[in-house]
Amino acid sequence: MMEHGNRESLKAMKQQIPSEWSERQAVDRAHIWHPFTQMKLHEADPPTAVVAGEGSDLLLADGRRILDGISSWWTNLHGHGHPRLIGAIERQGAKLDHVIFAGFTHQPAIDLVARLQPRLPRGLTRCFFSDNGSTSVEVALKMAFQAQAQKGQAQRTRFGALHGGYHGDTLGAVGVGELDNWLTGIFRPLLLHCERLHVPEDPRREIDADLDSWEATLEQARQAMSTFFAVHGEGLAAFIAEPLLQGAAGMRMWPPELLQELRTQCDRHGVYLILDEVMTGFGRTGTLFACEQAGVAPDLMCLSKGLTGGILPLALTWATEEIYGCFWAEPHEGKAFLHGHSFTANPMACAAANASLALFDEEPVLARAQVLGSVLRDAWAGLARHPAIRHARTLGTVAAAQIVDPRTGLAHPSASGFAWKLHRRALDESLLIRPMGDCLYLLPPLSTDPARIQEAVATIGRLL
Ligand SMILES: Cc1ncc(COP(=O)(O)O)c(C=O)c1O
Repeated sequence: MMEHGNRESLKAMKQQIPSEWSERQAVDRAHIWHPFTQMKLHEADPPTAVVAGEGSDLLLADGRRILDGISSWWTNLHGHGHPRLIGAIERQGAKLDHVIFAGFTHQPAIDLVARLQPRLPRGLTRCFFSDNGSTSVEVALKMAFQAQAQKGQAQRTRFGALHGGYHGDTLGAVGVGELDNWLTGIFRPLLLHCERLHVPEDPRREIDADLDSWEATLEQARQAMSTFFAVHGEGLAAFIAEPLLQGAAGMRMWPPELLQELRTQCDRHGVYLILDEVMTGFGRTGTLFACEQAGVAPDLMCLSKGLTGGILPLALTWATEEIYGCFWAEPHEGKAFLHGHSFTANPMACAAANASLALFDEEPVLARAQVLGSVLRDAWAGLARHPAIRHARTLGTVAAAQIVDPRTGLAHPSASGFAWKLHRRALDESLLIRPMGDCLYLLPPLSTDPARIQEAVATIGRLL
């Protein structure tokens, strides 16, 4: 009934484009279905209207200026409205906005792979374009399965993945993600066959590290991994993991030693290793790619989010020569990889990615990120003493902790809406944070002034 009322009022607007925010919000409420949102929540509390982005800040329609403490869903690297990136998009758009990529090619895509390939982990030489993190994962899963089948391993119809993993929202990606975290269990009947493995968190990332039983825990996890592969290895086409940092699992930071063990086990059992660096890529964890910290090179690597500096959709799936070779045949043999998206390798998105990578060459982007990471860790160490905070930890420019009710020492019940309220209150204090359940985290653009981060952490302490 309420929606009906809305429609009536919209009709009354005589299909004019709204000119006031109150009218725009009525249109939003009547027609727009927002991602990852129980829309009923917006009945009383409409989505926050953003009118501009400047550096690490977002400007809201009501005049507030907030620090983008989550890099606009883990995407932004160099700040909003960076003139180099915006200029590159404008120039490219004026020249060639978009073109089919099957049977055609263009300079921005070629420049991008030429720039990026030498920076990748060893052995990744073949690049397949798509347009978001989920599609880069779909491509990797399909490539791994088809490559295995085309080299006589058609029994490898399953995938391995880490418990808690998140790889996107298309069905293939959901199938290798954790079904119970994200209420995606409903899709279970539609999904790929996936075997899941647990890895422990790395206590060395904690502000108050307790390393007493760490060596034993690590050894047990190695054994568990070995057993997992002994049981499932023969049926797996590939194993997929977010290296060192499982973002959507609640910023779970896991040890590089186990990534090394995963590489060893995959090699031993003929399983491809897919590393999903969609979130960790491009400096977020302190190195250009998280897998560098373990010295591990995957067979397939997924990149998106920060690829364009986090401002336009684009994704890459990188593969080895060995995988590429499995598809190399005469056309009548039917071995090609028949997959593609309308906006594959969009030239303007490629131009943004080129401009972003040029910034990595010309400015100390990674060195600045390391400074930011150490300032963030110091500030987080202060927050770790707050009675509402447990399990404070950092990796690169990402800081996370669990929020508890100090009276009970337990997480606030989800029905209390604590995370949402904290998010809304923080907006009043010029800060965008968006806790995931009881996981509070900060993940600012790499270019953020460290002083702003100290302020943001102090604000969180006050709000808690
Ligand atoms: C590790 C990881 N993989 C894949 C995805 C999916 O990317 P997209 O939202 O662009 O589809 C995400 C998104 O958060 C992610 O964190």
